Amino acid sequence: MTCLEAIRRDITTTLTSPSLKKEDIIPILQMDSKEEMQALQSLAMEVRKEQVGRVVYFRGLVEFSNVCRKNCFYCGLRRDNREVNRFRLDEEEILRAAAFAHENRYGSLVLQSGENQREEYIDFVCRIVRKIKSKYDLGITLSCGEQSRETYRRFFESGAHRYLLRVETSSPELYGKWHPDDGKHRFQTRLECLKSLKDTGFQTGSGSMVGVPFQTWGDIAGDILFLRDMEIDMMGIGPFVEHSETPFHRKDAACLIPREERLNVTLKTIAILRILLKDVNIASTTAMQALDRFGREKGLMFGANVIMPNLTPVSRRKDYLLYEGKPCLDEDALRCNNCLPVRIACVGDTIGYGERGDPLHYFRRVSRHSSDGD
Ligand code: 5AD
Ligand code: SF4
Ligand code: FES
Repeated sequence: MTCLEAIRRDITTTLTSPSLKKEDIIPILQMDSKEEMQALQSLAMEVRKEQVGRVVYFRGLVEFSNVCRKNCFYCGLRRDNREVNRFRLDEEEILRAAAFAHENRYGSLVLQSGENQREEYIDFVCRIVRKIKSKYDLGITLSCGEQSRETYRRFFESGAHRYLLRVETSSPELYGKWHPDDGKHRFQTRLECLKSLKDTGFQTGSGSMVGVPFQTWGDIAGDILFLRDMEIDMMGIGPFVEHSETPFHRKDAACLIPREERLNVTLKTIAILRILLKDVNIASTTAMQALDRFGREKGLMFGANVIMPNLTPVSRRKDYLLYEGKPCLDEDALRCNNCLPVRIACVGDTIGYGERGDPLHYFRRVSRHSSDGD
């Protein structure tokens, strides 16, 4: 048996064990040699090919408002960052982005914003979703933070069928260190929201960040098990990238995983999730490309199968900086639309033009629960 085969066998044995624990995952997250990376990558790609195919689905991303009521310590859009020009796109601007997605045969659109629970904002989201659905055959994903059960229901009834809400970290203690203790940032609320989203019927996306101050290897391993146990359908995992106008900018000393290692650890996390969860969708996130010119392509090579091309009007992109070094700030949708297919072809994948690319995990989860009488 070659060295590569032996490592592959060890990873498979570990990850298929019914009693898989955090402590078993940590050594895989810490794998570092060329052979180990190759073993993980080849296993993840085998599972990806077999379960979801070598097809990449596009979700056109429209960052439609940077107004946010929260104050997360890591994020450039936090309420206390007075350097941000707050904006909200108008209906026409969003519809133009939707038209672009439709004309270029992206199967879906993601509407993302900071967190806003005002009635007027919720009405606006419902209205725009209804309008897009009446004009175009596009799947709609919302990423609008924590809302009430009732609001989630209204979003769903307007025609959105997917929702992204990252848990950020599955550790309540760590969640407390990443957010102010002001009653507005509660881990428990995040969990309840994820549950509400699933109950409402959404294809539910969640995920976490890698390399944020105070995070340990055990925390990342815990995130993987959390996403499995919560039966999440879509994963968004990205490296932490500093933003100078946030409290976490000068917390280097508290970072156990230095910036240079964050992309690799993110790639290993993606590979483990693919091997473990099989039929989920996994995004190759933009933050990976902030750390490496080929970050997103590498994500695809470690098991991701979704890319979110940015359709936000170029004039607004510099006002939507969750972190610094975000790629394609000056490239309009057309430029990325020409660039991405080349990048994707380079890794040997094809693009699922005109396809929704819904996560198979969702359909299996729903049918499993209905046959359980759940
Ligand atoms: N680095 C990387 N990702 C970040 N996010 C917020 N701030 C940062 C940062 N500094 C992520 C969070 C959020 C998503 C929209 O962006 O995980 O859920
Ligand atoms: Fe607001 Fe989201 Fe940034 Fe937190 S991570 S400050 S909720 S935009
Ligand atoms: Fe935007 Fe290449 S992906 S220019």
